Amino acid sequence: HDAIDVIRAKRDGVELSGDQIRWVIGAYTAGQVPDEQMSALLMSVFFRGMTPAELAAWTQAMIDSGVRKDLSGLGRPTADKHSTGGVGDKTTLPLAPLVAACGVAVPQLSGRGLGHTGGTLDKLEAIPGWRAALTEDEYLAQLRDVGAVVCAAGNDLAPADKLLYALRDVTGTVESIPLIASSIMSKKIAEGADALVLDVKTGSGAFMKDVESSRELARTMVGLGEAAGVRTVALVTAMDRPLGRSAGNAVEVAESLEVLAGGGPADLVELTLALAREMLAGAGRPDVDPAAALADGRAMDSWKAMIRAQGGDPDAPLPQPTERHVVTAPATGTLTRLDAYALGVAAWRLGAGRARKEDPVSAAAGVVWHASVGEQVTAGQPLLELQTDDASRIERALAALDGAVGVDTEDTVLPLVVDRIT
Ligand code: URA
Repeated sequence: HDAIDVIRAKRDGVELSGDQIRWVIGAYTAGQVPDEQMSALLMSVFFRGMTPAELAAWTQAMIDSGVRKDLSGLGRPTADKHSTGGVGDKTTLPLAPLVAACGVAVPQLSGRGLGHTGGTLDKLEAIPGWRAALTEDEYLAQLRDVGAVVCAAGNDLAPADKLLYALRDVTGTVESIPLIASSIMSKKIAEGADALVLDVKTGSGAFMKDVESSRELARTMVGLGEAAGVRTVALVTAMDRPLGRSAGNAVEVAESLEVLAGGGPADLVELTLALAREMLAGAGRPDVDPAAALADGRAMDSWKAMIRAQGGDPDAPLPQPTERHVVTAPATGTLTRLDAYALGVAAWRLGAGRARKEDPVSAAAGVVWHASVGEQVTAGQPLLELQTDDASRIERALAALDGAVGVDTEDTVLPLVVDRIT
């Protein structure tokens, strides 16, 4: 094989063979195809798309760059959830222990935030002592004993994706449905869960800004999952405004604890329960009511066990910011706009996210909002609170919020769950 032939074919709209795809992914992962040739191929895919056969072969080749785990020895059904990424989306935190408390094991290999979106591992690392890295034996033991584990993926899970994602990030080739779908699904199929629920975000704070492309991404991923023998459904959910009442790290852990204690913001509770019901149904337990496990404390017990198993102290105080800056409501009326992307960028600039992969994040940084879209606000009432360890960051965060808040504007907001794709 020759990389130039593969690039030319894709550039000219000729369908690649399974053999060509297996070769190029394998050779790139082994360091035999250089970044400049892979970049050209990715840009050709970006413009030409992929046929269903190409996408299936590409995804399988990415899975085969590592190992596909087998969790059948666990003796319990397994289910996982994956979100395409958003602002204030902390659902994994209450969801994993909740589903585990309902008898379905949750083997979640998770990631970090990049850009304006938050990462589950960054949030959990705000808990004193908690660690993201587990050995394979620790991972399996925790899955068996606690039933829920959220940790970093090892190097044997779709290593081709680690390389390709980093290359896409710097070559303007992230926002491609076949490339996103194969990236996410190769990791999730390799993880080995029986059932998978995809939370495909749509709106300003998501990768896919409009509902139709979010639906297409959802359909593409559901097709890949089902073809690989994983029962897969997708919910397309609102990310025109952020989820819950906070975006950041420690502050999102605190909000998740409210949900686990039976309270918390209505939208976060609703989405957590909707995803839990899908996971339980996919794992063959459609009759179990997850709301009961939130109400009677079983989900909270499961959370504490999950945190302790990874070295964390679930009862330790969470890091607090040294600086707080309040933004007040500009008028009296209905809050009609609270832009997800703007709030995500503000939290990022306050220190909750990183600009480069190797940067540290601040556990205490973030944004809290005191009203959700659709609620009444009064001119001058505290609406947003910016939290940081570094006062010099506040001005740039405020600049990101320009135009983010609207009272009695003509904006229409999406329903929380826009669509369900099977
Ligand atoms: N998340 C991923 O894991 N991959 C993508 O390509 C986009 C979002």
